[in-house]
Amino acid sequence: MNKKFQDKDYWIEYYERNLNNLKNNPPSPFAKYLVENKYLEKPKKIIELGCGNGRDSIYFSKNNSLVTAVDQCENTTKLLNECKNIDSFPADFTNLSAFPDLISFDIVYSRFTIHSIDENGEDRTLNWAYDSLVNGGLLCIEARTTKDPLCGKGEYKGDYIWFFNNHHRRFVDAKRLKKKIESIGFNIKYFLESNGLAKYKNEDPIVLRLIAQK
Ligand SMILES: C[S@@+](CC[C@H](N)C(=O)[O-])C[C@H]1O[C@@H](n2cnc3c(N)ncnc32)[C@H](O)[C@@H]1O
Repeated sequence: MNKKFQDKDYWIEYYERNLNNLKNNPPSPFAKYLVENKYLEKPKKIIELGCGNGRDSIYFSKNNSLVTAVDQCENTTKLLNECKNIDSFPADFTNLSAFPDLISFDIVYSRFTIHSIDENGEDRTLNWAYDSLVNGGLLCIEARTTKDPLCGKGEYKGDYIWFFNNHHRRFVDAKRLKKKIESIGFNIKYFLESNGLAKYKNEDPIVLRLIAQK
C-alpha cells in the first residue's frame, strides 16, 4: 500500500528546536544493547536509516564504527557530517538504491523508522538492506508495534497508520514483519516484542526489537 507520509517539515522543526545540543544526546537503549552485547567489538561499517539527531550514529562512531547516517532532515545531517567517522547526508532511506556506492555494510540499523514509512517503502528498504549487507551482516530494527498503547490514538488513516501529535506512525505487526524478513533470506537471530526496551520519560511502549543475519 503506498501512502507516503509527508512528515518531513514536522521532523525538521522538531530537530531545529534542539540543534545546539546535537552532540550531547544520550544513545538509545537499543544502541547501547548492541554495544554492550559486543556486536561492535570489531570495527564495523554501519548505516543508520533515519538517524534523526544522530545520537546513535555518534555513539556507534565512538565505538569502533564507520557510520553512514541518513535522514531526510538536512538540518541534522549537515551537522553530523562534521563528526569524526560519520558520513551523513539527506536522503529518503526507502530509495537508497539511487546511491550505488552504499554497499558492503556490516550493519544496517533502523531505530524507530520502520514505523515512519509506508509498506511499499518498508519492502524497498528491507530488500535494499539485504543487497547492501556483506554475507553475515546484520539488519537491526526497533519499531513500534500494534501492541503499543499509542496505536489507536489520533486520526486513523488505514493500514495501521495513525496521525497523532502532528505526524504519522504505521504500527508494525511484529510477527508479520519477522516472516517478511525471513522470506527475503535473512536468519532471525533475535526477536522480542515487549515493553521495557525503549523507555523514554513517562513512556514505556511495546516495541519490536529484531536482529537478522544475511
Ligand atoms: C522517530 S525518529 C527516530 C530517530 C532516531 N533513529 C532515534 O531513534 O532517535 C524518525 C526519523 O526518521 C526520519 N525519516 C522518516 N522517514 C524517512 C525517510 N523516508 N527517509 C529518511 N528519513 C526518514 C525522520 O526524519 C526522523 O528523523
